Amino acid sequence: MQTQKTQVAIIGAGPSGLLLGLLLDKQGIDNVILERVTGEYVLGRIRAGVLEQGFAKLVREAGASANMDAKGEVHDGVEIAFNDTRIPINLKELTGENVIVYGQVDITRDMMEERAKRGLETVYEAKNVEPHDVKSDSPYLTYEKDGETYKLECDYIAGCDGFHGVSRKTIPDNVKKEYEKVYPFGWLGLMSDTPPINDELIYAKTDRGFALASMRSKTRSRYYIQVPATDDVKNWSDEKFWEEFKLRMPASARENLVTGKSIEKSLVPTRSFICEPLQYGNLFLVGDAGHIVPPTGAKGLNLAASDVATLYKILTRVYKQGDKKCIEQYSPIALRRVWNGVRFSWWLTDLLHDFGDDKDEFDKKMERSEIEYFLKSPAGQKVIAEQYVGLPYEDLK
Ligand code: APR
Ligand code: PHB
Repeated sequence: MQTQKTQVAIIGAGPSGLLLGLLLDKQGIDNVILERVTGEYVLGRIRAGVLEQGFAKLVREAGASANMDAKGEVHDGVEIAFNDTRIPINLKELTGENVIVYGQVDITRDMMEERAKRGLETVYEAKNVEPHDVKSDSPYLTYEKDGETYKLECDYIAGCDGFHGVSRKTIPDNVKKEYEKVYPFGWLGLMSDTPPINDELIYAKTDRGFALASMRSKTRSRYYIQVPATDDVKNWSDEKFWEEFKLRMPASARENLVTGKSIEKSLVPTRSFICEPLQYGNLFLVGDAGHIVPPTGAKGLNLAASDVATLYKILTRVYKQGDKKCIEQYSPIALRRVWNGVRFSWWLTDLLHDFGDDKDEFDKKMERSEIEYFLKSPAGQKVIAEQYVGLPYEDLK
């Protein structure tokens, strides 16, 4: 077995793994990424595209922000519509912060290219990655590539391998606790090279169900409608999608809708999932490997980024100051921000989606009253805005 040594072994070349790898490299901390699929396949996954400023700052520090800053759209506000009533939430006014609309695929590509440009090692199509001795001071990974078996020795393992990865499975069941909520609906998403219906995102709650009007640029739109979780993309022609989407947009926006041929159409399941703890020995769960949120609050990518920020600070302190004890701070710090992001995403999902008979008359009245209060009172809007732009990152003790 061919053996190689690095300081931090990273499993997964999604946004979490790539961002962590670039940041560690900036500190001269050696790292190798093992990715199960090809780079093209990673970029083939259409995901969200609203970045908190905390994430943007990290990408700048990682040295991969040129395109984001040149092409990303800064949005000072977001709209929530309740049938035809449109309520602008002025994020900038309410919090002093705003967000950047820039596709997850684009930021992932930028980080992949920056990593390649720096000659940093990423092993794509690394099969059967297996962590070993993660509770010891010399953990390692084994994997297969082109029929050969390899051993990657390291000090720490960053599990950035998403929900279906191997890292979380490495934590024994009697050590971890998993919390999950699966929603009875999904988001049917459509991407089209048409000008967006509005210059800010519109989150629409209607009697027909939820809808979201988002975008990737001034010429590319990304739209979603709530459909039953059991539905299938095959049931939705472009025409049927546009017809239903139009009915869910507030009347005053409808006339701006430009329809066209879809360039991508997919069904996104919705669930909330959290694993505790996020650290086991010298193995750390980062991003989707440890937690999943429904896309309503645009928190998935941003919670992955705050995990990366905390682990990056910890590993920098370990290698620069020899303070190994601080690794115990990872899970509590990361989980505090994750639980808040999970709660916000669950709350907004509960408020804006149609749960049919799962909610009784009283619940529906509560929902209506919550909308009245949160969307119409400045204090309520501030609560939404503060969480939408993202709560501050916690520092190490
Ligand atoms: N071995 C190696 N690589 C693996 C393995 C494995 N056993 N299992 C999964 N991977 C790779 C996947 O192929 C994927 O490229 O790990 C990567 C995980 O990437 P993501 O799922 O994108 O997770 P993360 O980087 O944490 O990004 C979180 O992605 O799903 C969105 O909403 C989510 O925006 C959030 C972001
Ligand atoms: C998207 O642009 O794909 C998007 C934006 C905001 C969300 C979810 C998805 O909350």
